Amino acid sequence: MSKLLLTIAALLPILCGADHGWYPVYHVAPPQGWMNDPNGLSYFDGYYHAFYQHYPYAPEWGLMHWGHARSKNMLNWEHLPIALTPSLPEDIDGIFSGSGVVNEGNLTLIYTGVSGNSTHQEQCLAYSSDGVNFTKEGVVLKKGGNDENFRDPKLWWQDDSWFVVIGSKTDDNRGEVLLYRSPDLKDWSYEGVLASADDKLGYMWECPDFFTLNNKQILLINPQGVEQDGYDYQNLYQTGYFVGSWAPGGNYTVEEGFKEIDHGHDFYASQTFLAPDGRRILIGWLAMWESEFPEGADGWAAMLTLPRELTLSDSNVIEVRPIREVQKYREEISSNSDPITISGGAPYGLLADAKANEVTVRFDTASTTAKTYGLFFGNEAGSLNISVNVDLGRLFVTRYYPNYNITESERSVAVDLSGPLNLDVFLDSSSIEIFVNDGAGVLSSRIYPVDGQRDLVAYQTDGVAVLSQYKSPIL
Ligand code: FRU
Repeated sequence: MSKLLLTIAALLPILCGADHGWYPVYHVAPPQGWMNDPNGLSYFDGYYHAFYQHYPYAPEWGLMHWGHARSKNMLNWEHLPIALTPSLPEDIDGIFSGSGVVNEGNLTLIYTGVSGNSTHQEQCLAYSSDGVNFTKEGVVLKKGGNDENFRDPKLWWQDDSWFVVIGSKTDDNRGEVLLYRSPDLKDWSYEGVLASADDKLGYMWECPDFFTLNNKQILLINPQGVEQDGYDYQNLYQTGYFVGSWAPGGNYTVEEGFKEIDHGHDFYASQTFLAPDGRRILIGWLAMWESEFPEGADGWAAMLTLPRELTLSDSNVIEVRPIREVQKYREEISSNSDPITISGGAPYGLLADAKANEVTVRFDTASTTAKTYGLFFGNEAGSLNISVNVDLGRLFVTRYYPNYNITESERSVAVDLSGPLNLDVFLDSSSIEIFVNDGAGVLSSRIYPVDGQRDLVAYQTDGVAVLSQYKSPIL
């Protein structure tokens, strides 16, 4: 089909009025067509920039472009023209993931150009002085030899050099991250293998990231091929990190092993960047490969997560919090001194409309006698359940949207119930992001409620639950 016909096909559901109300209000999603990984996250000339893997002609993965949006506060996003389209021999089969930096007054992007019927992956540069229109410079970094899996460059500047980490796999099919160094982004020298998988950590590491938190060096990777282990690694692919130490010219020494950075159904291929005030911000793809995308019926597919601020605790655990820009929208509904008690098996009434808002709930665990309690919205045809299992000391998220083939098992995270349990829940049309106990954990999942399935209630099953809540509309 021609591009024109494909565009019309992508627009048809919108023109015919198909709209389930799933398009997000404050998250980045493609205006039409498909999105996957966030790319080129950066701050340039007064705007935050988010690029993303994009196929504009249908809500499915296809020839990759870089879509583009910008924002002043990371909540109100403005769509910009597609930034990068396959056009050169070296990127004719796709513009794969990469990163962005500001260099000599230009917003400079490095991406993986795919060519040779998708058998070659090489790193290419593009730059822009206005942050909207990009000029390509072509290939700057090749692997040599087999380069079929050599992608997703993440750039940074340190000690008067540019560095880049690139995802790859060894000849015996283990994921690895390669490191290169350059004075000018054009001439690159190979610095060696930064880290590689043992026999448990997968056959390919995608979208690596390497940055400092609290004087430790974090290696964030997206391994493919890791097997489920109890409550861990339940998604098809994972995103997680190592904590260690490193200095330019030296080896990376790992101090803490691989830990997942999100525990929901939908989180992958994240990328971080530094905000001008020094915050380390993380954004992920709020979806998962080989899963259902019911919103495709409305002409688009997938969204990026709410930006999150990362810090490292003294016990070497990354704490993940929503960006503080959301605080501007908070309004108090009931105060902590005026708690709500639910008992007798009847759910407490409406807490919120699960549409586009932040709902913060604090369970008073000392006064709560129920063994199972939580938050719920939906009915027998489609629902989302956030439940605390006191005996297991875990918080579970279970989604049930059988009309869209989504009935898979729950996801969960361990929770400390020795003090109050704080759940900071962000809802946006077809997503839920649950931040637990101020940075202790986060679960991101896509949801597909229709009319009548958005009344968010608190419940308990076998005793008393005591809670207080706040809610705020976002935007
Ligand atoms: C990760 C990924 C990257 C690749 C891109 C292609 O989700 O597979 O490794 O660059 O998506 O769209």
